[in-house]
Amino acid sequence: MRIIQTDTYQAMSRKAAAVIAAQVIAKPDSTLGLATGDSPLGVYQCLIDWHKSGDIDFSQVKTVNLDEYRGLSPDDEQSYRFFMYKNLFSGINVPAENRHIPDGLAGDPAAECARYDDVIARCGGIDLQLLGIGNNGHIGFNEPADAFTKGTHCVGLTDSTIDANSRFFAKREDVPVRAYTMGVRTILSARKIVLIATGERKAQIIKQAFFGDITPLVPASALQLHGDVTLVGDKAALSLI
Ligand code: GLP
Repeated sequence: MRIIQTDTYQAMSRKAAAVIAAQVIAKPDSTLGLATGDSPLGVYQCLIDWHKSGDIDFSQVKTVNLDEYRGLSPDDEQSYRFFMYKNLFSGINVPAENRHIPDGLAGDPAAECARYDDVIARCGGIDLQLLGIGNNGHIGFNEPADAFTKGTHCVGLTDSTIDANSRFFAKREDVPVRAYTMGVRTILSARKIVLIATGERKAQIIKQAFFGDITPLVPASALQLHGDVTLVGDKAALSLI
């Protein structure tokens, strides 16, 4: 594992964006695994800026997002599809047909999970997966559980995650209680993983995930089993390691 510590959130964002840019420059038809949340916003802004200045071309890139709330339509402002369009896709040139996100409105959850695993396989697997981390160690929406998850599945969100994500909704009851997410095995099958962490509230879970036991109770601890993980964090998030 590589650890890159930066002074600020902006510097963390630039470093992680540089790793992604290097991937796309070296392999223009890369499949990028993408994340939502507050943490990647700065990364996405850098990629947009570098695309606009002519430094990165995404015309052959394919993207697969980690997760999506079940029950939200793509034009719901809280859906991850909406988030991705607003914060990244509207500013870069990944062709629309190359952008993949689980369908929150799918009628048959099992069929949607199988379809999404097939999408990832047809993209040739994930070259680089960008991750944030939940306060309870979740990656994507893989919540603490008795066993590590495998492929895409539909999951019940924990109270901790609903609490954390309620800041984006008008009221807590509006937060969907279920979501689609790539499994931990899917994430570990990415060739390269970059996890970003910012702020003091992530310090404890970063220590547990990267230096504690490898346990499904801390889903991100599975990353210790991967051969190419880069943790990019600001001083506050890395303060306990
Ligand atoms: C959500 C997402 C995760 C993300 C996490 C942390 O639950 N499903 O993919 O990593 O939030 O978000 P933030 O970066 O806002 O702390």
